[in-house]
Amino acid sequence: MKRKRILTGDRPTGRLHIGHYFGSLKKRLELQENPEYDPFILIADVQALTDNFNNPEKVRKNVREVAIDYLSVGIDPNKTTIYIQSMIPETAELTIYYSNLVTIARLQRNPTVKTEIAQKKDLFGESVTYGFLGYPVSQAADITTFEGELVPVGEDQLPLIEQCREIVRKFNSIYGEGVLKEPQAVLSSAKRIKGLDGNEKMGKSLGNAIYLSDSEEEITKKVMSAVTDPNRIKKDDLGNPDVCMVAYYHNLFTSKEDVKAVCEECKAGKRGCVACKKQLAKNIIEELRPIREKRAYYEAHPEEVDKILIEGTERARKVARETMKKVKDAMMLNYFE
Ligand code: TRP
Repeated sequence: MKRKRILTGDRPTGRLHIGHYFGSLKKRLELQENPEYDPFILIADVQALTDNFNNPEKVRKNVREVAIDYLSVGIDPNKTTIYIQSMIPETAELTIYYSNLVTIARLQRNPTVKTEIAQKKDLFGESVTYGFLGYPVSQAADITTFEGELVPVGEDQLPLIEQCREIVRKFNSIYGEGVLKEPQAVLSSAKRIKGLDGNEKMGKSLGNAIYLSDSEEEITKKVMSAVTDPNRIKKDDLGNPDVCMVAYYHNLFTSKEDVKAVCEECKAGKRGCVACKKQLAKNIIEELRPIREKRAYYEAHPEEVDKILIEGTERARKVARETMKKVKDAMMLNYFE
């Protein structure tokens, strides 16, 4: 049986943090063990440039950082094809053909794009670029280049998958039923992890994230700054773990029995926040230790990372060429054959 291709990816604009770890990386680790699937992970440098066109050094540097993050958490290049988006010219070519099948009004209505444009006023001012407005078209090309069937994503990405499905249907209705495969979004069950400050979103600009590459000292420092119950001033004040980010993170990194004890002692005013944070920092440090150790290995062996990216990209390119042949045949662009 032909394995189902799964497409996921990240924009390389920074190292990956524990929000990525619980949000998508753990899911990808699980999927790569399923023999029914053929997972691809793209490092979306072309998409990263749509809102970082003025900062190519940042994108270039983070392609490698993100690749190392993948390998460090256990993405296995023998099971998952990791490739660099800009090295697949077929995807860029498909983007151009798809651009005829999407209206500007439809892109402007895409909720994900709309939210992002509003967040990027500093960069775009009153008028967004053609490239940014059109990135859902390019993402549709990412997925269909590989005949991706399943796309595990967070909720914020659903409108992009829907847009891709519309493009596929339009393409097939004009150029031939069944030429392109319509992908399905799979909501990754994992929830979005809040920042250490309680913000719904975790990110570099907010300074509230723990990175997979953070040192033991950095982790401890960040945990010590986490937001706790604001009404609890003295140790024997009765605490409310429901409004405490330390308790929230204990749920992710601490065993069930210990979490229970943590919460009970907090509510009874028998546990100080400092001790509680120290215990949490220790648990995070332990959980991330193997990841840090693998990272140190790959940082010391950059040639191995290069080899993995080159081989992954070569494999991806082969698949992309096959899809392109089908598309060009369907579109009558197969001259002189
Ligand atoms: N838009 C995704 C993000 O910002 C990255 C991405 C690019 C992607 N191309 C993709 C995800 C194709 C899934 C499939 O995280």
